[in-house]
Amino acid sequence: MNTNTITSALEDARQRYCAANPLSMAADKAAEKYLPGGNTRTVLHYDPFPLTMTAGDGAELIDLDGHRYLDCVGEFSAGLFGHSNRIITSRLHEVLDNGVAMGAPTVYERELAGLLCERFPSIEQLRFCNSGTESNIMALSIARVTTGRSKFLAFHGAYHGGVMIFPPGGSALNIPFDFVLADYNDTEGTAQLIREHGDELAAVIVEPILGAGGNIPGSREFLEMLRRLTREVGALLIFDEVKTARIGKAGIQGLLDIDPDLTTLGKFIGGGLPTGAFGGKAEIMANFNPKQKDSLKHAGTFNNNVCSMAAGSIAMSEVYTQQRAEAFLASSEAFRISLNELFAEKAVPMYCNGFGSIFAIHFTHRPIQTTTDISPRSRALSPLLHMEMLLQGILICNRGDLFLSLPMTEAHYSRVRVALEAFIDRHKPLILGEIGPVPDVA
Ligand SMILES: Cc1ncc(COP(=O)(O)O)c(C=O)c1O
Repeated sequence: MNTNTITSALEDARQRYCAANPLSMAADKAAEKYLPGGNTRTVLHYDPFPLTMTAGDGAELIDLDGHRYLDCVGEFSAGLFGHSNRIITSRLHEVLDNGVAMGAPTVYERELAGLLCERFPSIEQLRFCNSGTESNIMALSIARVTTGRSKFLAFHGAYHGGVMIFPPGGSALNIPFDFVLADYNDTEGTAQLIREHGDELAAVIVEPILGAGGNIPGSREFLEMLRRLTREVGALLIFDEVKTARIGKAGIQGLLDIDPDLTTLGKFIGGGLPTGAFGGKAEIMANFNPKQKDSLKHAGTFNNNVCSMAAGSIAMSEVYTQQRAEAFLASSEAFRISLNELFAEKAVPMYCNGFGSIFAIHFTHRPIQTTTDISPRSRALSPLLHMEMLLQGILICNRGDLFLSLPMTEAHYSRVRVALEAFIDRHKPLILGEIGPVPDVA
């Protein structure tokens, strides 16, 4: 088959993928009867069909056709602990034997709350909820209540949950909050917008690394400006650290020593089980104190669900200690840098953008600083990279992200390097842009 264009190379890779995965293909088809497109979580869909997974083991996953993969999707960062951490699973077995729906406070949420507040100095008090999306909705809502204002500033390309997405063209599913959008890492332009909307702004919400938008780290100058200017205009600064809280011992706020008013958490803090949390200054969180008259009624049947709270508290106290988090940042950042060295040696325009264990491969020579730096050619090549990595037993996200996990070893990292080299050797002229037009990718 002619593989001289990105479209034909992708078609060729997909044919090899279909031939290798008949059982996943059939399972996807059968699922279409009850789930639209066989899917209940859009980000997990990719063409021609996603693999159906049956089991996990350490840093690896096994699919319906019996293939074993190195899992660099890492549940989009929630899979920090890998698939079978014995400390977490034995805590869960203990809990399951003692009842899981108590309808009352338990020791577990108190343990986990203490661990998180001690870890993130800006979080004096917090509340749990069920997801990162919910934590952001609650953080924005409490910002409205405490400031008496209703406008928010967010960023083009940001992702704060399924109802707060800011891709080009917007999202019909977004909650009808009033958002003003700025360009990520545009310090001057954003400062101007904050000043312009100053007395109407309830909050600025920002991911310290713009995740779904391309794993673009916010510069220190940019994030510090947000802190300074929100104080100046009386708006709250919300750090969405749902993904990035796992970076270093206290998230990006810890690394940069920035003190947001509110922080939202989720993903890994439940030890791999569903949860979310929002917290910050005690004077803001005091609005939720039910012992006070006229407090806000924040509800949620599963806010303190026993399994997530118990798994989270053991995970944060015994597995992902602050020392372990620092060591993991050092080893994963060394790996990320080594991949960039590999791309330089191979003389291809490829770059791992991000920090530590969270990054995305873009087709560029230079770091990406804002979403518009990602070229149409780069976006078109990502699905090809994805397919070719899958075919070599390495799971990465369709849009090119990799999320590393604690059970990964140097041997796993080598497998990624070997697979990337093979991808480059196979498709170098396409990567260099020497052949083939850029297909139109929405
Ligand atoms: C930065 C960020 N915020 C919020 C969320 C939403 O979290 P959840 O999927 O748990 O609702 C995500 C999910 O990917 C995220 O990456």
